[in-house]
Amino acid sequence: MSVIEDCPTLAGEAHLPVVLNDLLAHADADRADVLRARLAQELPVLRDRLSRLYSNTPDYAQWLNRVLVQTVQIALDRPAELWALDLQREANPNWHLQGMLGYCTYTDKFAGNLAGVRERIPHLQELGVTYLHLLPFLKPGTPPNDGGFAVASYDEVDPHLGNLSDLQQLTRELRAAGISLCSDFVLNHVSHEHTWAVQARAGSAQHQSFFHWVKSPEQIGQFEKNLVQIFPNTAPGNFTFVPEVNAWTWTTFYPYQWDLNYAQPVVFSEMAKSLLQLANHGVEAFRLDSTGFLWKRAGTNCMNQPEVHWLLQALRCLTNIAAPGTLLKAEAIMPTQDLPPYFGLGPTQGPECHVAYHSSLMSASWVALAEENTQIIHDVLSHTPALPDGCTWMTYVRCHDDIGWNVLRPELDARGSDERSRLLHASQFFAGQIEGSYAKGAAFQASDANAVHGTNGMAGALVGLTSAHTPEEHSAATSRLLLLQSLSLFVGGLPLIYMGDELGQGNTTAAELAVRQGPDGRELHRPVFDESLFAQRHDSNTTAGILYAMLRGYVNAKKQHAALSTAHALRLMPTPHPSVLLLQRGEEALGLFNFSRTHVTLDLNASFSSGLQPMWNALTREKADMLACSLMPYAAIWLTAQRP
Ligand code: GLC
Repeated sequence: MSVIEDCPTLAGEAHLPVVLNDLLAHADADRADVLRARLAQELPVLRDRLSRLYSNTPDYAQWLNRVLVQTVQIALDRPAELWALDLQREANPNWHLQGMLGYCTYTDKFAGNLAGVRERIPHLQELGVTYLHLLPFLKPGTPPNDGGFAVASYDEVDPHLGNLSDLQQLTRELRAAGISLCSDFVLNHVSHEHTWAVQARAGSAQHQSFFHWVKSPEQIGQFEKNLVQIFPNTAPGNFTFVPEVNAWTWTTFYPYQWDLNYAQPVVFSEMAKSLLQLANHGVEAFRLDSTGFLWKRAGTNCMNQPEVHWLLQALRCLTNIAAPGTLLKAEAIMPTQDLPPYFGLGPTQGPECHVAYHSSLMSASWVALAEENTQIIHDVLSHTPALPDGCTWMTYVRCHDDIGWNVLRPELDARGSDERSRLLHASQFFAGQIEGSYAKGAAFQASDANAVHGTNGMAGALVGLTSAHTPEEHSAATSRLLLLQSLSLFVGGLPLIYMGDELGQGNTTAAELAVRQGPDGRELHRPVFDESLFAQRHDSNTTAGILYAMLRGYVNAKKQHAALSTAHALRLMPTPHPSVLLLQRGEEALGLFNFSRTHVTLDLNASFSSGLQPMWNALTREKADMLACSLMPYAAIWLTAQRP
């Protein structure tokens, strides 16, 4: 049975509250007309989702009116340039599905501050980037602050990075360069230095109600039975004692990150207001951090509850009213089977996020590399659902977090009870603990050598670039990194490159790690951007230069060949070689990925669904030998039927 029965998704006649009619009557007539149409479209779903969440709370009707007025006022305040962009994107709602390329970085490590990022725009353009995710740049709590994921003020920029006017200037210049800025929006928790937490500690009952409180160790025990541990080593447990309140507050992540209580309508409306105001400063996409944890329900693991989706859908409606050119991206690092609802599929149907991370594909690619066998990628891709119109996957090789292995448990469990040991093997392999391993990573949050959680390390270190001594080892490591990047680019609607990976940059140095705040192992892959590698990017005698040129080759090929567009369905094709992944896009493109150190020759006649037709290498432009296609160790080859 559907969780939402009679779930309204269609627009109807909007009956607007008097306050809203008054506001619109005094507004610019053109904007008012547009807003009336958007309200007519969005209100049925918005009212439905909010009433499911909050209709039992006192003064619900007045609160709802305030939310609508707040949202419409933000829309009326929207700068003309952004208002115009919204109209363009409303007319072309799949604007973000036309070959975007993402780049993710910390502001300080990449460019010092927001003004410095402006100087790097030419670098991003050279690479073909159209979407820049700057990791948290809002005002954080005093360090340690989980790399900025403990936000003290959602309405201020981190003073070390700049101010709101720097943000506006950056978003303007990025936009002029065809790049959309994505900001993290940490919905699940705030810093213990956020004013709500400060006032809660000072005794304000209202602010205490914005958080979750547990009164006894017994109650904690009851909850913990079902909860996961995100940082079992550095932040065990999910609750933190707050002496001023004489109770434990819910802290899924670090003790200084207090989970918000979304059962309080004001928590939702204030967070929504901050998000929309950031959109008015020019942020065009939001990475909705830790979305899975937004709603707690006793007796469950408190993840992916239906209310999470009602909250996100309500947020989408508000965004569609005030800033419809804005993308919402779910950061839900879950097994693939748990992700469809974040795209609005399944029992909690309704427009929700435009993008979500495909973390299983990312982790599976690393397992496949360690195993030199693509079975696990097959399993993941065969469980990957087709997405609704307007939605796409964010694919990636590395990001600022560890590679989480446990998202792959469902795929492995389906193959047998002892298959999880493959994750331990991958974890040990990338920590360099297995004979013959080239990797220089480190296990994350696993105290005992047999526990599996995550792996840290820059891609360059994990593929063996930093351990390579001979030209052959350099070449193999370069090919491994390109193999993973090219798979991400081939599959992804929105592929993301993590800062430094375009140059094969290695781990943070030991000297640098020693001065970093906090004992978080993820700092290993959060180095400062390596200017010397950057200077080598056009030098084909260097590894950085070879990598950079090849990566740009794949990026450009994707831009040039319509056959490679994600508008065409992706199909997993059989291959006789367990180390080779063969993907078909539409009827005119093939991706061949050899995850092994051995040379493989493939007869594509047997695999390609459209029958044998001449194809060309999309990068080298050479005609392919379809009967004996040669794949060098770790090669990634894209073929298209379009003659270059
Ligand atoms: C997300 C971030 C991660 C952070 C966590 C808590 O998963 O990617 O870096 O630690 O949220 O905010």
